[in-house]
Amino acid sequence: MSIELFIEQLEALAQEAGKAFSEAADSDQLDQARVEFLGAKKGRLKSLQKNMGAVPGDQKKTAGMKLNAVKNSIQESFESAQNRLSSASSDGQRDVKFDATLPGKAFHVGRLHPITQTINELKDIMGRLGFTPAEGPEIEDDYHNFEALNIPRAHPARDPLDNFYLSVAETTSGNDIALSGNPLLLRSQTSTVQIRVMENTQPPVRIVSLGRVYRPDTADWSHYPMFHQIEGLMVDEDVSLADLKTVLKLFASNYLGDEVPVRIRPSFFPFTEPSVEADYYWDGKWVEFGGAGIVDPNVLRAVGYDPEKVSGFAFGLGIERLCMIRHQITDIRYLFTNDTRFLHQF
Ligand code: PHE
Repeated sequence: MSIELFIEQLEALAQEAGKAFSEAADSDQLDQARVEFLGAKKGRLKSLQKNMGAVPGDQKKTAGMKLNAVKNSIQESFESAQNRLSSASSDGQRDVKFDATLPGKAFHVGRLHPITQTINELKDIMGRLGFTPAEGPEIEDDYHNFEALNIPRAHPARDPLDNFYLSVAETTSGNDIALSGNPLLLRSQTSTVQIRVMENTQPPVRIVSLGRVYRPDTADWSHYPMFHQIEGLMVDEDVSLADLKTVLKLFASNYLGDEVPVRIRPSFFPFTEPSVEADYYWDGKWVEFGGAGIVDPNVLRAVGYDPEKVSGFAFGLGIERLCMIRHQITDIRYLFTNDTRFLHQF
């Protein structure tokens, strides 16, 4: 066989192999083509190599060099086809080099909502002061939201426009529309839990309840139709306003991380007597803390306690307000729009 013919055969094979490799659609097809052309026993390059024996002796060296060059080029086009397929595969099986010694990259997983974080922290602080967590339903009845809390039938706090009633039984007498029976509503305050706990427990009582309350307020920077309250209740033989003030002061100082002065001003709630509004001093000014007072004897009687034997204090504070002061959040609506750019900061 002439060297020219041998070279021609080699080049034709290289071309055919290149075409087969570049047309392979997946690694199986590529592997088939590899066996066909580069297979160590029956590969076509291997069988072509045998023709070298027929090339005249003085041209064997040139033929051998050509054979090697073609072998390398076929090998190269196989590898480039291999690269093409592995970088195109998106199923993670590609043959990329994985360097396990590289440092890890931070990966943001979920986190607790700032209000949940605040609730956990407040519960913790009150726990250290000896207050046990208690829970009550968010769908309440009139009795626990108003009646047992000494809120009279005609009190404006019961107005259907100020509450989310779920069932309204109305009786009409003259021009007045009054609610009758024991309608259900979304609780407007966590003071409901005071009643539920005292109904089932004998004094002494020291509980804290944190949860959602609902009022049909128009949303603005400081209002939202759903927000959270923390309710504290302590009933024992000799509980006074001084105890209340001390607990509020320790609570504020613990949460805000400083010695925080607390003051109380006279106020009114149907379920406490006397009632107070508490403020704490923060950042150069007095900030409203929430309502509190000494549990009204009528409330104690409603749950079967003897007001001659025990007394108690209660307080109810807005959780959003505390969270906003601490984190300098300027609008309550940020807390409920679920914008992850906001939430990721906590
Ligand atoms: N429940 C009252 C409110 O929502 C707060 C309060 C709680 C006042 C306990 C006194 C005692 O405004």
